[in-house]
Amino acid sequence: MIKPYYRKKGFTLYLGDCLEVLKEFPENHFDMVFADPPYHLSNGGFTCHAGRRVSVNKGKWDESRGKI
Ligand SMILES: C[S@@+](CC[C@H](N)C(=O)[O-])C[C@H]1O[C@@H](n2cnc3c(N)ncnc32)[C@H](O)[C@@H]1O
Repeated sequence: MIKPYYRKKGFTLYLGDCLEVLKEFPENHFDMVFADPPYHLSNGGFTCHAGRRVSVNKGKWDESRGKI
């Protein structure tokens, strides 16, 4: 079983690739999963923010892997 990264009463945090971490738990284990996943919008383009031209790139983690 995966080791918790942080634990407090009624709260446990796991650190890792969620697709791998979730496999460690049985079906129906969680009441809720809250996620703020990448939208894969970092494609080298530009947008307008506060009247300035800025890159849309957020980081390697937001680049599409071509699966969408
Ligand atoms: C939109 S950001 C979340 C930002 C965060 N909510 C905040 O306010 O700082 C998406 C995050 O998901 C992470 N991420 C991407 N794929 C992941 C995966 N398979 N497992 C866990 N985290 C992942 C990325 O490294 C990135 O930090």
